[in-house]
Amino acid sequence: MTTRNDAEKRDADDPLAPLRDLFDLPEGTIYLDGNSLGALPRATAARVQEVVTGEWGDALIESWNSAGWIALPHRVGDKIARLVGAGAGELVVADSTSVNVYKVLKAALGLAEPGRDVIVSERTNFPTDLYIAQSVAREHGCELVLLEPGEQPADRLDERVAVLMLTHVNYRTGAMWDMAGITAQAHERGVLTVWDLCHSAGAVPVDLTGAGADFAIGCGYKFLNGGPGAPAYVWASPRHADRFAQPLSGWMGHAAPFAFTTDYEPAPGIARYVSGTPGVIATAALECGVDTLLAAEPYGGLAALRRKSLELTRLFADLVEERVPGFAIESPRDDERRGSQVCLSRPEGGYAIVQALIARGVVGDFRVGSDGLPDILRFGVTPLYTRFVDVWDAVEQLRQVMESAEWRDERFDQRLAVT
Ligand SMILES: Cc1ncc(COP(=O)(O)O)c(C=O)c1O
Repeated sequence: MTTRNDAEKRDADDPLAPLRDLFDLPEGTIYLDGNSLGALPRATAARVQEVVTGEWGDALIESWNSAGWIALPHRVGDKIARLVGAGAGELVVADSTSVNVYKVLKAALGLAEPGRDVIVSERTNFPTDLYIAQSVAREHGCELVLLEPGEQPADRLDERVAVLMLTHVNYRTGAMWDMAGITAQAHERGVLTVWDLCHSAGAVPVDLTGAGADFAIGCGYKFLNGGPGAPAYVWASPRHADRFAQPLSGWMGHAAPFAFTTDYEPAPGIARYVSGTPGVIATAALECGVDTLLAAEPYGGLAALRRKSLELTRLFADLVEERVPGFAIESPRDDERRGSQVCLSRPEGGYAIVQALIARGVVGDFRVGSDGLPDILRFGVTPLYTRFVDVWDAVEQLRQVMESAEWRDERFDQRLAVT
C-alpha cells in the first residue's frame, strides 16, 4: 500500500512538479475539481488588468487593430489546436459549448447524405449536448437515438444515421471512447462524427486529425483553465472547411465583415464559425489558461501530463479500494479507457459526503443520478498542479469523513444551487 511518505517521494521525483507554480492556488485546499473549473493561472490577473486598463482604457477602440483583438479567437484557437491534434487555422474560439453544439450539428446534418435522418448520441452524454440535439432533431424532422450505457456506437449506425455525436470523456464516469476506432466505424457506414472535447482537451492526448474526425467542440473553463464561463471553441476537419454552412451566420463570420454588405457570404474555412464580436477580456484570460498547458511542452507536453494523470487517478482509485470501504469505482480501471478523473458511487449520502470533504478543504463535486444511473462523487486530477500527496491526503480525509460519519450532519445536506 502507498504510504504518505511514498506519495511525498513521488512528488519530490516528479519532473512536472515545477508547473504547479504557474497557478495561484489557495493555501490549505486540495483542489480536485479542475475538470469542472480549472484553477487560476498566476498570469491571468495581470494580463486581464493589462487588457482592461491599457488596451481598453488607454488605447480604446484602436486596440481592435493595434492589440490584435480582432485576431484573438484565431490566435488562441491555434494554440488550442496544438492540444487536440488540429492544424493552425482549423480551430477557432467562439461562443459557448452549447451554442457550438448547435452550430456543428446543423453543419454536419447539412453535409450528410440525403435521406439520412437520425442523430445518434448516448444517454449519459452531458445534458446540454442532448438538449441541443433534441432541438436540432425537431428542426430537421430527425430522430435522436441514444445509446444506453454499455452499448457500442457501431451497433446503432445503420443507413439512416446522419451524425454520431459523442463526448470523448464522459462527465459522469471519466470513461473515454476510442475516437479513432469509432470514427473509422462511423465513416465506413457513411456517418459523420461530432466530438465534444470538454473533458479531454488539456487532460488527455487528442488527435482529431489522426482520428479523421469531422467536427469537434469544447469548453475553455475546465482543463484549459480559462476561467468561469470562458469562451468555447470549435473545429471542423479541413475536408469540410469550405463546404459546411453554419446556422448562426453573423457578421464576424462573413468573408468581409467591414464591407457591410447586405447579403451573407461565409468566410473561408473555420472563420465562418465566429458569429458575433468576440469577448476580448474573456478570451485573453483563456489564452493565459491555454499557455499553462503549452508551458508543459519542454517537460514532455501532453504525453508527460497524461502519464502523471494516469498515475494520480490510479493511486486515487487504489487508495479508495484499500482504505475506504463502501464505494464503487465508476471510472474504468483500464488506463486506455480512463480520462483524468475518478468517480465514486454509493447508495446514499453522495452529496453530503462531498460537502463534508469540501468543509475539510478537499474540493470535488457531485453529479446526481437520474434514469437509473447512480449518484456520482467526482474527483478530477490536473497533473499541472495536483500532487501525489494531494491524492493521498484527499483519500485520508474521505476515510475520516466516513469513519466519523460526520457527513450525516444535516448541515452537509443543504443543497446549493451548484453541486
Ligand atoms: C461534456 C460537456 N459538454 C458541455 C458542457 C457545458 O456546456 P456550456 O459550456 O455551454 O455550459 C459541459 C459542462 O460541464 C460538459 O461537461
